[in-house]
Amino acid sequence: MMATDTNSENIPSSPLSNIVTPTINIVSTAKDGPCSVDALGNLPIPPPPVSSSLSSSSLSSSSSSQRTIVIGIEGSANKVGVGVLVYDHRNRTYETLANPRKTFVPKTGEGFLPRETAWHHQFHVVALVKAALSEAFPLHTIDEATSMLSGICFTKGPGMGGPLRSCAIAARTLSLLWNIPLVGVNHCVGHIEMGRVSTGCSDPVVLYVSGGNTQVIAYSDRTYRIFGETIDIAIGNCLDRFARAIGLSNDPSPGYNIELEARKPGARFIELPYVVKGMDVSFSGVLTYIENEARHRLVGGKGDDGKEGGGGEGGGTLTKADLCFSLQETLFAMLVEITERTMAHCGQNQVLIVGGVGCNKRLQEMMADMVRERGGTLCAMDHRYCVDNGAMIAQAGILALQHGVTTTMEDSWCTQRFRTDQVKAVWRPANTPSRQ
Ligand code: FE2
Repeated sequence: MMATDTNSENIPSSPLSNIVTPTINIVSTAKDGPCSVDALGNLPIPPPPVSSSLSSSSLSSSSSSQRTIVIGIEGSANKVGVGVLVYDHRNRTYETLANPRKTFVPKTGEGFLPRETAWHHQFHVVALVKAALSEAFPLHTIDEATSMLSGICFTKGPGMGGPLRSCAIAARTLSLLWNIPLVGVNHCVGHIEMGRVSTGCSDPVVLYVSGGNTQVIAYSDRTYRIFGETIDIAIGNCLDRFARAIGLSNDPSPGYNIELEARKPGARFIELPYVVKGMDVSFSGVLTYIENEARHRLVGGKGDDGKEGGGGEGGGTLTKADLCFSLQETLFAMLVEITERTMAHCGQNQVLIVGGVGCNKRLQEMMADMVRERGGTLCAMDHRYCVDNGAMIAQAGILALQHGVTTTMEDSWCTQRFRTDQVKAVWRPANTPSRQ
C-alpha cells in the first residue's frame, strides 16, 4: 500500500472567498502492516490507564476491543496531513490505518509563504479528516468512527505560525465536538518516534533533515538531546532556494528535482565551501557561493549583466547537474561527519534518518557507507513517513497518551519555536540504556 500526496486541487485565493469542502480521493494511504512495539524498548505493556481527563464515552469503544486509537493532525509547513493510528494491546503492535495528506506547491521560482500555506491547510483539513476516518473505518459512519477515538494529537510546534495555528484550531474544534482529549506534540519528536517504530531502530543517533530543521540527536535520560545542528538555515531550505535559483520546479518538491539533476550521468564535482564548526554546520555561505557559481558559470545562465549564456569568467561551462551534484555531495558530507562524531561520542551503532531530506537516496547511500565502516546499521524510510504526515504526530501523541499525558484546552497553543530537547519523553527509560 502506498501513500498518496496528490496536488490536483487549486488553493482558493482566500479561505472565505470559496467555502467549498474539497473531495479527497479515498485510496490506501497507510503503511503495509502493523509494527511491533518491541522497537520502542521499555514501553509498559499493557499501557497504564490513561488520564482521568479522558471521557468515558471516548474510552468505552476502544478499551472494550483492546485497542487505543488516536488521530493526528500535522500542518507545520507546506503539507497538511491527518493520520489514524491504532495500538493493539493484545498483539503489542502499532498500525497506521490511514495517512492522507495534501501539499501546497507554489509556482516555480517561488517559495511557500505562511499566509497562503495557512489558507491551503484550512481549505483541506476537514476533507482530510473525513478521508482518514473513512479509510480507517470503512464499515462505520463518521460518528461511529469518532466514538472509537481516545485522543486528538496535533503539532504544537515548531513550524510556521499561520499553518500551525490553522491545524491547532481544527484539533481544538474536533476535541470539543467529539469530547476527546488533546495531545500537543513536538514535530521533531513525531519524526523520531515514527522512525523508531516503523524501522525497528530502538536507540539510534537521529539525523533530522528537512526544510526547517537540521539536527543530530541522541537520547539520554528522557530527553532527545541535540548534539549538532545548523547555525543558520536548514539543509532543505538551502536546497529549495538553490532549486529556485536555477529554475527547477517545486513539483513534487524542489529537493527531489535537485536529486534527479544530480543523478544525471556525467555530472562533475566542483569544490564548494565545506563548513563544519565543531558539531554544528552552516549552509548559508555555501548557498551564496553556489548561487554565484550558477550566475557566472552555468550553461545558458545569466551573468551579472543579465545576458544569457553565462556572463562570468567561467564562460558558462557548468550544467545544472554539475551544480546539483556538487551541492549534494558537499552538504551531505558535512552531515555524515557530524553524525559519525555523535555515534563515536555516544557509543551508538544505529543511525536513523528522518525528515523530508531523509528521502534522498544519495544521502542514505553516503550515510550507509559511513555506518557500514563502523559496523553499524542505517535505518531509513521512504517518503510516506520521512516527509511530514499526520501518522507521525499520532505516533508520538499516543505514546504520551499511554503515559497519561494530555493537553488542556488552555495549553493547546502552538509555537514556532519548540526545540526537540524541551520535550520530556516520559515513555522512554529514565536511564540511558547501555551502549557498546
Ligand atoms: Fe518535518
